Amino acid sequence: MEKEVLCCCHNVTLEDVKEQIILGVDNFEDLQEITKIGTDCPPCKEKNEKLFKILLEEEIKG
Ligand code: FES
Repeated sequence: MEKEVLCCCHNVTLEDVKEQIILGVDNFEDLQEITKIGTDCPPCKEKNEKLFKILLEEEIKG
């Protein structure tokens, strides 16, 4: 299956973000530092910050 790219500027996929959450990243700023996701386009940041929060909540709930 083709990987879902969430941020094309930095080629960050949905899998990458999930992986970082599993590794313990619990805020978007750290995720940006590690992956550079959304660091160039404001709409990308906005979209992925929302998605990150949803994914994080799902991960916490299990
Ligand atoms: S597409 Fe993500 S920063 Fe440009």
